[in-house]
Amino acid sequence: MNHFLSAGIDLFWRRMAVAKMPDTGPYLDLCAGTLDLSLALLKEKNTKGYITAIDFCHAMLIEGKKKINYMKGKISGLERINIIAGDGEILPLKGSIYNAAMTGFGLRNLTDRRAGLKEIIRVLKPGGRLVILEFSQPVIPIFRKLYNIYFCHFLPHIGNIMTRGDRAYDHLRDSVLGFPNQTQLVSIMKESGFINVGYLNLTIGVVSIHWGDKPL
Ligand SMILES: C[S@@+](CC[C@H](N)C(=O)[O-])C[C@H]1O[C@@H](n2cnc3c(N)ncnc32)[C@H](O)[C@@H]1O
Repeated sequence: MNHFLSAGIDLFWRRMAVAKMPDTGPYLDLCAGTLDLSLALLKEKNTKGYITAIDFCHAMLIEGKKKINYMKGKISGLERINIIAGDGEILPLKGSIYNAAMTGFGLRNLTDRRAGLKEIIRVLKPGGRLVILEFSQPVIPIFRKLYNIYFCHFLPHIGNIMTRGDRAYDHLRDSVLGFPNQTQLVSIMKESGFINVGYLNLTIGVVSIHWGDKPL
């Protein structure tokens, strides 16, 4: 659905996000869902190290497992993905063991985002990198107006028809409207302890990639 409704642009967004990740793991994929970001990391980058893919929704992870089976022979390194069911706000992980963490369209869904960021910084090694791919605010005012009409009125309608009325796209609209904009997210990351924080707007700010490092 996401590939369809974004006309495949989400694949480009993921490619850009994983480009900001270091070449060496181990990696954490928080709110991994059906593993699209983990798979993009393996596909787009010549990486070393395992990937821990965490989500608290078993059904999403089961779909992700099916994607791994489907991708066998098409992407190398699939055996390096370890799937764990767990809560991103209380990670079931001990120690500062990850070289990098990433979350794709996940942070917005956490009930307590600051708790999630604190957990990420806890499990990162000193100097470890976090990359966040998330919906954001378009930066050109006229485009923002048109986009908001599409996003608030058309997208939920189309989404609800195509998902037979499960209202998932109402949640998408509400959670995106309630999510911090680019500069607010920079502040939240800094307050959570990250340094070297920066961001890049994609598709005129419909989506942004934020990154930051755990201090040494
Ligand atoms: C929009 S999906 C993103 C999936 C994937 N990362 C991607 O790039 O498409 C958001 C995911 O966040 C997960 N999620 C929400 N809150 C969570 C939490 N507290 N702990 C773990 N996963 C959570 C949901 O189950 C869902 O799979």
